[in-house]
Amino acid sequence: MSKAKIAINNKYPSVTDLRNKAKKKIPKFAFEYLDGGCNEDVNLIKNTSDIRKVELSPSYLSKHTGSDMKTELFGHTYDAPFGIAPVGLQGLMWPNAPEILAKAAFEHNVPFVLSTVSTSSIERISEITEGQAWFQLYHPTENRLRDDMINRAAQAECPVLVILSDVPTFGFRPRDIRNGLAMPPKMSVKNILQILGKPEWAMKTLFHGQPNFETLKPYMPKNLDLKQLGKFMDQTFTGRLNEEKIKPIRDMWKGKLVLKGVASEMDTEKAIRLGIDGIIVSNHGGRQLDAGESTIRPLTRIAEKYSDQIKVMMDSGLRSGPDIARTMASGAEFTFLGRSFMYGVAALGNEGGNHTISLLKTELQQVMEQVCCENTKDFPNHLIKKIN
Ligand SMILES: Cc1cc2nc3c(=O)[nH]c(=O)nc-3n(C[C@H](O)[C@H](O)[C@H](O)COP(=O)(O)O)c2cc1C
Repeated sequence: MSKAKIAINNKYPSVTDLRNKAKKKIPKFAFEYLDGGCNEDVNLIKNTSDIRKVELSPSYLSKHTGSDMKTELFGHTYDAPFGIAPVGLQGLMWPNAPEILAKAAFEHNVPFVLSTVSTSSIERISEITEGQAWFQLYHPTENRLRDDMINRAAQAECPVLVILSDVPTFGFRPRDIRNGLAMPPKMSVKNILQILGKPEWAMKTLFHGQPNFETLKPYMPKNLDLKQLGKFMDQTFTGRLNEEKIKPIRDMWKGKLVLKGVASEMDTEKAIRLGIDGIIVSNHGGRQLDAGESTIRPLTRIAEKYSDQIKVMMDSGLRSGPDIARTMASGAEFTFLGRSFMYGVAALGNEGGNHTISLLKTELQQVMEQVCCENTKDFPNHLIKKIN
């Protein structure tokens, strides 16, 4: 049950407003890391514009007894059919961002997924969410590290482990290359000037201390610049997942296992064969394969064929309640958003998690009542135009 009250700051009644505010509040290198796609941003732009081609049909004269967006997933009834996707380096965009979002997600009873490369540890996030946060594992090269992180996630009582298939190589992101993005941020003259222009971000970052990969801390050397970090990540994580690597994880992990980054029927069939409980149809928010499909396209095909065999969820491109409704109508049983929540926190700090979740819940409730959809499973009955 939700402990949170819906609270919307009337100055920011859309994710676009939050994005605009975030752009003003944080240094350019941090904003561009969050906001950008890869290569020419084709996939990034298509993700949202294709979702918006989906249309819903209202049934105004139907008997309507009320709309309830509570959605059951893996034995837990969440208050809404959306969650917070894993995002790396969150503390670079706003100090404490993972803790702010995990707390808001917990209070609103929606899932928060912690990335292996976020800036809070599994243990801290588990404490904040009373063991309800999910953990996303980047596949380590060494089995010892893999086993250690899986054991830590189990000890922290994470109900769901998410493994990632869509980062076999680092995405080609021109903005990050231009900005010389590093962790902690490199003190080039350009970056110092950007930081000086954002005094609130600078003061908060100074107060909280430099963001660090807290979950990975036990395994990594200190103060790596971009080149060294790239080398450490390359050596420590293989990225490229395959069936042989998934099998031992399935054997070890007793909780629910989700494969994120599925974009084809072939990978869905493999996931089913491997005994995976759910997939997130995702293209990493358009950050990896600029020549790829937008996610709503494979989602529609995959949901139609496989939703009786595996939980089919989706992320990439959603920015509003109507986007969540369109995605659910196209067959997703649950959705995730990445950038939207980070825009919220970068724009509004501590208030950002609560505000963004409240905004999406309010928008979604409005769509449900408008089309006369009584529960989230009913969305496909209101679909008039799907994308194919
Ligand atoms: C800045 C940034 C960092 C990300 N880092 C990770 C990560 O560490 N692990 C992961 O599984 N996905 C990561 N993702 C992908 C998100 O989990 C999610 O798939 C994506 O943001 C969804 O698209 P949206 O931002 O359009 O909602 C990242 C996305 C962004 C924008």
